[in-house]
Amino acid sequence: MTEEETGTMSTKVQGKRFPRFLAWIVASLFVLGFFLPPVGVWTGPVLGAWFVGTQRPWRGFEWMVALTFVPSLASNWRMFAVTSWSGAAETVGWMIVASLLMVLPFTFHRLVGARVSGPLSTLALPLGATASQWLALPLLPAGIFSAFSVSRIPLSSSTLLQVGAVFGVAALTFLTHWVAATLVWMWNLEFRRPRIAVSAGLLAAVLAFAAGLGLARQFAGAALPEALPAGTGLAWACLAGAIGLGGWALWRRDKQPHWAERPVIAALLRSPSTGEALHVESDSGQETLVSSSGERFPVRDGIPDFRRPEDLTGDNGKYNHLYEMIGGFYDDTQRVACALKGLDRDEYFLAYMRKLEVKAGDSVLETSVGTGLNLKYLPQGVQISGLDLSAEMLGSCQANLRRWGLEADLYLGNAEALPFADASFDVVFHVGGISFFNDPGKAIREMIRVARPGSLLLISDETEEYAQKTYERIPITSRYFKNRKRAVTIPVGLVPGDMEEVHVEMIKGGLFYALTFRKPGDRLLTRAQ
Ligand SMILES: C[S@@+](CC[C@H](N)C(=O)[O-])C[C@H]1O[C@@H](n2cnc3c(N)ncnc32)[C@H](O)[C@@H]1O
Repeated sequence: MTEEETGTMSTKVQGKRFPRFLAWIVASLFVLGFFLPPVGVWTGPVLGAWFVGTQRPWRGFEWMVALTFVPSLASNWRMFAVTSWSGAAETVGWMIVASLLMVLPFTFHRLVGARVSGPLSTLALPLGATASQWLALPLLPAGIFSAFSVSRIPLSSSTLLQVGAVFGVAALTFLTHWVAATLVWMWNLEFRRPRIAVSAGLLAAVLAFAAGLGLARQFAGAALPEALPAGTGLAWACLAGAIGLGGWALWRRDKQPHWAERPVIAALLRSPSTGEALHVESDSGQETLVSSSGERFPVRDGIPDFRRPEDLTGDNGKYNHLYEMIGGFYDDTQRVACALKGLDRDEYFLAYMRKLEVKAGDSVLETSVGTGLNLKYLPQGVQISGLDLSAEMLGSCQANLRRWGLEADLYLGNAEALPFADASFDVVFHVGGISFFNDPGKAIREMIRVARPGSLLLISDETEEYAQKTYERIPITSRYFKNRKRAVTIPVGLVPGDMEEVHVEMIKGGLFYALTFRKPGDRLLTRAQ
């Protein structure tokens, strides 16, 4: 089937001026923060809290230590009168200790934030940072402590110091880190959930109070003390709070549903190699899906892993490497790019998602679900399944689902060999990725196999124009997309000839496409059987 034989139409998604202007102002502030301490004292913790959230805890910790230690060493070296090699080694050693103490609260935030939901999760960072700074005071030599302490950073920001003069250094640390954690929490909820309303109001009130107090003292000519008070009472309270919150988070660990308790869903699962049905085996709480011929697929964090060595060869392996690297900040880069262009993301997602024929009670599968960005555009009351080849992308998907209050069954596997029985889903769709699969035709045939007869299938992806204009130009992706073996084509020709209602729609002036077709048969009839 050729493109000419399908009906082709176009949907435009326009950029908006005010959101674009706002996004550029915010982006500029973050850049300024690297050079102006009064700005950096606010933007630094925001970047830290965001960054650790995009990484697995240990990797985030290692990177943060490196990113804290190296610039601090470069900028603070001259402050210390180092006259000998042993003196230099001692200073470097203390700086490493100081970097660890500075980074630990962010790791604490990462670990606790993943287990505590809602506004409470924003307290881990300020409690940890204030407590850690307080513990560092008697531990670190004075020079090293002041080089890292918040009391040094905002020296040129006397408004903030006026607040510190009243409430102590501990209050400044708490305030800047609580603002950071709250902003990142709201960013992750896309600033639009009703749930953020109370926190946003509280944040505005606290900031207005701090600014009002600082400015009032400044205008009244209040002198700043030589050394700010430490704020000992608050620091002890924060230490106690951090221990309490950490303990509570540990106690209420995420409990993933067991596959043994879900026989209906488990009955749909098949070996991607042999198509054999699978049963659940459990050993000391560790579940494994096992076929009658003895193939074993482990379940980790509630996600069955159906990947076989051959799934990660060729282009699948090449692009998997990319997604494992960027999985933590895939959503953020997309959101920032859209914001800087003033694009309404809802409009873009809905341009293809509204094509799905989905209603409450349906079972829906997205192949290559990634971080799950499309799932929140599904109607309520559907049973969602998502499969992807990248563990890092699925990890972000799990975090997103928790944030959005959605439930879905997630699977690690190859879209070219789906681990499901024939006709398992009412709705099957795929967005992004298929053009770079080893065998896009096989992936399409698999989508058709697991869809119920009569269902409408959707495949949406970027066009060659988009791949050239973006992926080939962005430094981190360019080496994966330049000199490709094949150009992106709309895979109409790969749709089997017996499919009905084949239709292509171009989105965003030809940068994306949405291909839909119907599997022949009567959906209601097959469902009833
Ligand atoms: C561009 S992302 C799209 C993610 C998501 N569907 C979205 O719209 O945001 C492409 C996704 O395809 C996944 N992927 C690549 N090759 C795959 C394969 N052979 N089987 C399953 N998923 C694959 C990647 O891991 C990645 O998550």
